[in-house]
This record gives sequence, C-alpha cells and structure tokens, in this order.
Amino acid sequence: MATDPIPPFPPGFLWGVSTSAHQIEGAAAERERSVWDAFTAEPGRVKDGSTAEVACDHYHRYREDVALLAGLGVGAYRFSVSWPRVNSPKGLDFYDRLVDELCAAGVRPVPTLFHWDLPVELDWLERDTTARFAEYAGVVAERLGDRVTRWITLNEPAEHTLLGHALGTHAPGRQLLFDALPAAHHQLLAHGLAVRALRASGARDVGIANSHGPTWPASRDQRDVDAADFYDLLLNRLFADPLLLGRYPDGLGELMPGDVAADLAVIAEPIDFYGVNYYAPTRVGAPQDTGTEFGGVRMPAELPFSVREIEGVPTTDFGWPVVPEALTELLTGFRERYGDRLPPVVITENGCSYEGLDDQDRIAYLDGHIRALHRAVEAGVDVRGYFVWSLLDNFEWAEGYARRFGLVHVDHATQRRTPKASYGWLRDMLLAQG
Ligand code: NOJ
Repeated sequence: MATDPIPPFPPGFLWGVSTSAHQIEGAAAERERSVWDAFTAEPGRVKDGSTAEVACDHYHRYREDVALLAGLGVGAYRFSVSWPRVNSPKGLDFYDRLVDELCAAGVRPVPTLFHWDLPVELDWLERDTTARFAEYAGVVAERLGDRVTRWITLNEPAEHTLLGHALGTHAPGRQLLFDALPAAHHQLLAHGLAVRALRASGARDVGIANSHGPTWPASRDQRDVDAADFYDLLLNRLFADPLLLGRYPDGLGELMPGDVAADLAVIAEPIDFYGVNYYAPTRVGAPQDTGTEFGGVRMPAELPFSVREIEGVPTTDFGWPVVPEALTELLTGFRERYGDRLPPVVITENGCSYEGLDDQDRIAYLDGHIRALHRAVEAGVDVRGYFVWSLLDNFEWAEGYARRFGLVHVDHATQRRTPKASYGWLRDMLLAQG
C-alpha cells in the first residue's frame, strides 16, 4: 500500500458510508413482510441458515450507530427506507427519528427508497408495482422531505433482476433467465415515476444507485469477445442506457413489456447525480459446459457466457478480485460512452468482506480504490462523492452473516459494536481531507 497521503478531492466532495434496511434493522415483528422474509424462511436459501429478523438490531440501536457515524466524521449516511416498514403503523416514525438524529449529529441523510425488500404481496413482473412504488416514494418524501435533500430511488436493479428473478439465488427466488427482463423494465419505470413523485414533493437532488464494473473478455478469441460484450450489455448498458440515453441497447427494448417508447420517456427523466456501486471487474468468456461459479453464485450452463477467474490479483474473503484500477477504467469509460449526458457521479457503494478487527486488507482495498477514484477525477470525470459499504457487519443476503463488510465489527450474539482498524484509518483520512 502506498504511504504517501491520498491527494485532496475537490471542495465539497461528499464522503459517506452506506447500509440497507433489511441488512441491519431487524425488528421484523414491527413491520410488514418482504419478499426477503419469505425467501429466507425457505430451507437452504441462506447459506448459514440465518435470517434478518434481528440483523444488527439497528432499529433499536440507531442512536449508537449514528454516534459511530459522527465519530467517523463522514458528511453523509446512505441508508434505505424499508417499504414494508412504511406500510405498517409507526413505520415512518422510525425514519423520522433516524433523520432527526442524523441531522443533530451533522450527518446528511441520503435515503434509498428500494434496496430489495419488496413488500411480499408485490411483484416486479407486474406493471402495477411501478405505480405503487411512486405512491410510496411520495409518502416518504412528504414526511422526510423537510430534512432530506438528496434521494436515491433504487439500489442495484441489475442484481435484483439477475439474482432475484433470473438465477433465483436472491429473493424472490425466480429462475426465469431471460424472461426476467420485465422485472428490469418495471424497476426502471418505477425509478422514473418515483423521480417525478419526489420532484412533485419538492426534491431537487435525485439519483439512482446502479452496480457497474468493467467486463474483460477471457481472450481475443471472437467467441470470448462476444460473450463478454453480451455480459456487459446485461449488467452495464441495459441499466445505464435507458436512464442516460433514453433507449435500450441492441434490440433489448423489443423484449420489454408495455408501451416501451412511452415508458422510456419516463425512465430517462433527468436525474441530478448518477450513483455507481463498484466492487470488481468481471472476466467473461464463451459458455462452458459445466457453467461457472461467480461470487458464490452458480451460473447455469445455458447462459451465453461464463464468468472466469481474474488471475494474478488478490481476492477478498468472498473471492471477489481486488482491482482498484478497474474503477478508473469504469468511470472514464462511462464518461466516454455517455459524454455530457452523464450527470455528476457519486460512488454510492465500494467495499470488501474480510474477517478480523485488524483489517489491513480492507484498508488496502479502500486506499487503492480511493486513489483510483482520484485518478478518474484527474482524468476529467465529475465525481462528487464516495460511500463505503458498509458501516456495520450485516446480513449479506444469501450469504447470511458469514461475510463481513463493516468498518465496525458486530458480534451478532451480543450486538456489541467494535470499530475495526479500517474505521480509524478512514476517520484519519477524512480528517486529512479536511
Ligand atoms: C451491493 C448491495 O447493494 C449490498 O446490499 C450488498 O451487501 C453489497 N453489494 C455487498 O455484496
């Protein structure tokens, strides 16, 4: 790891950390059920058999967690609002208290309205869910909009589509492969409708958090190049093109339901920032007979691509490759593809899973990625913020509690929070940034 200080970021650059409701709140009895509650209840769905019923008990311990944020010195906190909680009596009161606590601590609240915990009676394959989402967005904005100025509509619709609806390793557990595409379209449409609902409530700073990463072909062989291009289409362009260019890439629009041209006009509603969740690049080649495993997920052999190992780089405990320079590549590539249509970028998630309190590997990961981000800024990409995933060790979806992404260790038996070495490192880095 380099020992020279991280160069200063532009004035006003927003530093923060991210979490999501289902992964930390617990207090499941005090809200309605989501698709994740139903999924988790099915045996074998979550690797360690755990549930998020208690999670980090953040619902009851939010004051302690806000104190941890204040101690870290971050300017902002990205959390998500649980739709099933808002649907229950007193649900919004919790976010009211949380936002008050954040404001009192001088930490700017940045809520995400959907981070995968869809109310169990709803379904992204149904068009009606889009209107319901816009209604819900309006309700939350009416209640919190006097103190919340920056909003994120959706978190990673790509993963929610791929893992939840195409491969079935996440809730709601569907294995529709390409028939999952309507779930992508409806989430994008829901985003556009929510942008309108938020603006109608006076919001001026609205964006989305999409996951992106460079896709690298396994070789120069045309079959590998084509397979990698297809993967890039599904994970990157399918979600960014409609938002930023107002069209689906390469004929994908024909596979979408409804009046796609009219919907695209809603989806492309201008946004104020573009959130990027970045973790790792992906090496992709032509399909292999046996299918492949990627980040703990088995990719079926019938897919027209296979995910390969990136050799010669370190990996996190999750097995994800650590390639900071791919973040620079991603952002400069975005700037090239979308030009002036790309609004200011905010890195809404970046982080890694490692065991232990003396998490030097996490420090090296963050240090490398923040420097890589700085190089993107120097190359002319307008980046306005960076959020670490995550504040706390939490419920990592189908992995349960086995993956630890937190700057703060959580003993899941006692709920004791212990800042890790990376927490101190980030605090010192933020102090140096001024
Ligand atoms: C992205 C997701 O938004 C978040 O919920 C998850 O925990 C992290 N990636 C790590 O996998």
